[in-house]
Amino acid sequence: MRIGPHELPNHLFVAPMAGVTDRPFRTLCKRLGAGYAVSEMVTSRKDLWNSLKTSRRADHTGETAPIAVQIAGTEPGMMAEAAAYNIDRGAQIIDINMGCPAKKVCNKWAGSALMRDEPGAIAIVEAVVAACAPRGVPVTLKMRTGWCDTERNAVTLARAAEAAGVAMVTVHGRTREQGYKGQAEYETVAAVKAALGIPVVANGDIDSPEKALAVLQATGADAVMIGRAAQGRPWIFREIAHFLATGTHLPPPETREVQAWLTEHLRDHYALYGEDAGVRSARKHIGWAVRALPGGEAFRAAMNTLDDCEVQLRAVTTFFEALADTHRLLPSTPPAANQDALAQKA
Ligand SMILES: Cc1cc2nc3c(=O)[nH]c(=O)nc-3n(C[C@H](O)[C@H](O)[C@H](O)COP(=O)(O)O)c2cc1C
Repeated sequence: MRIGPHELPNHLFVAPMAGVTDRPFRTLCKRLGAGYAVSEMVTSRKDLWNSLKTSRRADHTGETAPIAVQIAGTEPGMMAEAAAYNIDRGAQIIDINMGCPAKKVCNKWAGSALMRDEPGAIAIVEAVVAACAPRGVPVTLKMRTGWCDTERNAVTLARAAEAAGVAMVTVHGRTREQGYKGQAEYETVAAVKAALGIPVVANGDIDSPEKALAVLQATGADAVMIGRAAQGRPWIFREIAHFLATGTHLPPPETREVQAWLTEHLRDHYALYGEDAGVRSARKHIGWAVRALPGGEAFRAAMNTLDDCEVQLRAVTTFFEALADTHRLLPSTPPAANQDALAQKA
């Protein structure tokens, strides 16, 4: 699997998720089997580039190559400038966001709204490719299947994007109108794959090794991209890789291993965000990590009241040590009886 000059270790990708796939989380996913990760979107609005949020998103210190940055906006010139700005800060691949359903990205309708304006969308692609090609940086595109059920134009747009020089297309199998409701469909992804010569990535509702295999088979896609199912379970990538290679399942990870990964993730997270923002934004990752564990819900509620990084980390350590005493391998179904005892210990 290649994107332009970049050879990837496998075809299992982490989806860009604003507020989630920051550098610490991308690093962890790559360590646990993801072959590729795309940053959270960076706005094309220059006035926001010096904001703490955007400058953190554009910080790729220590990140494993290739570094891929997603940009979002509506104006071709601004998007080209955003591409150049991110290349200057280490981006080796630029991804254009035509998939985000949020009402406002960059003060205007952007993201998947661009799919409704095909000439406008292609003008953006052409401007970004013109900014990236001389610097040897491939441009990729992430889109949905279309605007709504009656306007599924992914194939048309993907063909035009390929002609304009895009190196890879990712399709989330929902329309913009669906948001995250209903089920992702893969027929449109398969149609895009059949229409293009460049790599195509299938995305949407992939949450198990079996589903990854089924989607790869149904679409003929070159890779699968996983978002929500990696929240709190970043080892899903190595589980899928193992299943695709052997047809058998890896056992669940050891509880101690999960504790070590989470500790490492939290330390990295605090280092990027600092004490105040770090302790708050780490809560969601901890909550996802414990939600299916015995006592996880009670622990999450208690942990959400802590506002000091070291105290938060100690609580996580205590929770996992108690769990490891009774479960060498990570359990997944919470026996209700354990919940209070573990919450008290934490
Ligand atoms: C919290 C969250 C934030 C997201 N942010 C972005 C984003 O910044 N850019 C983007 O292209 N898609 C974004 N997405 C969409 C995902 O990349 C992905 O297409 C979608 O979640 C479907 O994949 P999944 O079913 O594996 O989660 C986001 C999704 C979630 C849940």
